[in-house]
Amino acid sequence: MSFDIAKARNETPGCREVLHFNNAGASLMPKTVIEAVTEHFNLEVHRGGYEAAEINAHKIKNFYRAASKLIRCSPDEIAFIESATRAWDMAFYSFSFQKGDRILTAEAEYASNYIAFLQIAQKTGAVIDVVPNDETGQLSVEMMKQKIGPDVKLIAITHVPTQGGLINPAEEVGKIARDAGIFYLLDATQSVGQMPIDVDKIGCDALCATGRKYLRGPRGSGFLYVRKSKLPQMEPPFLDLHAATWTDLNSYQIKNDAIRFETWERNYSNMIGLGAAIDYALSWGIDPIWKRILDLSRLLRLKLSRIPRVNLRDLGDMKCGIVTFTVDGVDSNQVKKLLFEKGINVSVSNAEYARLDMQKRNLLNLVRASVHYYNTEEEVERFCAEILSARL
Ligand SMILES: Cc1ncc(COP(=O)(O)O)c(C=O)c1O
Repeated sequence: MSFDIAKARNETPGCREVLHFNNAGASLMPKTVIEAVTEHFNLEVHRGGYEAAEINAHKIKNFYRAASKLIRCSPDEIAFIESATRAWDMAFYSFSFQKGDRILTAEAEYASNYIAFLQIAQKTGAVIDVVPNDETGQLSVEMMKQKIGPDVKLIAITHVPTQGGLINPAEEVGKIARDAGIFYLLDATQSVGQMPIDVDKIGCDALCATGRKYLRGPRGSGFLYVRKSKLPQMEPPFLDLHAATWTDLNSYQIKNDAIRFETWERNYSNMIGLGAAIDYALSWGIDPIWKRILDLSRLLRLKLSRIPRVNLRDLGDMKCGIVTFTVDGVDSNQVKKLLFEKGINVSVSNAEYARLDMQKRNLLNLVRASVHYYNTEEEVERFCAEILSARL
């Protein structure tokens, strides 16, 4: 199936301004999202915040429907949360860890998650157990199997890490978690919107996502998925009058769906905008989006590999739309700055964003060029030409 790139670009005002290879940072929003956010914001301005929420109640509800359709779950398994980090936190801190409980994770783990592991380990005596990578650089499924035991309380891994194109074998891990009856928390911040995600196929019990990356939603939006059957074992670290009901002077009841992870006050414009972003992604189809991203990223890797002094840094057997590289003798921030001056956006991943992995590879930082379906082959050419001609 061919992709109508002209339409995609026409519907993305930012495409006329920049060459945007920072989709793993924050994608350019399509018109429909911009309109959804501003329409609700204007309604708040003119009609009042509470009244706007009532008028647009159907759009707020639509967010849950869209998110559940995207990852194939039920709407009451979705909570709107302002970022992937807070979504992940709400799941992680719902568990009470005891001394000796093991948390299984992987080398690619994201800094914020690992900091939370460290905090809980230092407070409770729980143990962080890192599953090593296999020879391709992805989490070793074999080693994960070997580490399973009665003391493993949680498996928490990152699907697509912040610092590269790697895709960890989330589905294989899901099978291990299921067979062993261990709760499985997946950080899918960088994979949702980029590739097909089916929570039942993956077998995860909770998953976090953000709006601004591959979903092309507004900043300050994200969601948490939690499998309904797992809710009873999870007590959210914070509760308010939306997440729970004050039933009597000395009692309260926690909501029996994923709403228990939300707060009453939310940015409704962003929530409606994220719903619109998901609907927009679904209208293109996640399979065609994924195929287009794979084609473009393969082309980008190929072209970059031919440039002297450029070293591709992506690990893993299967790679996604995030292409990372370093340039011999040049700091990645300098590369980013030079590209920015040419109207080209990339981001830099620093060692402290994923220390286990970056330190092991002796990397201080790397350039992260991340493509989306609305990028073009011509942009890939221009990007590589700029790198080649830059006096790096
Ligand atoms: C793997 C991973 N997890 C979580 C996050 C955090 O997402 P957010 O900024 O929405 O909290 C990021 C952001 O780069 C990420 O790459």
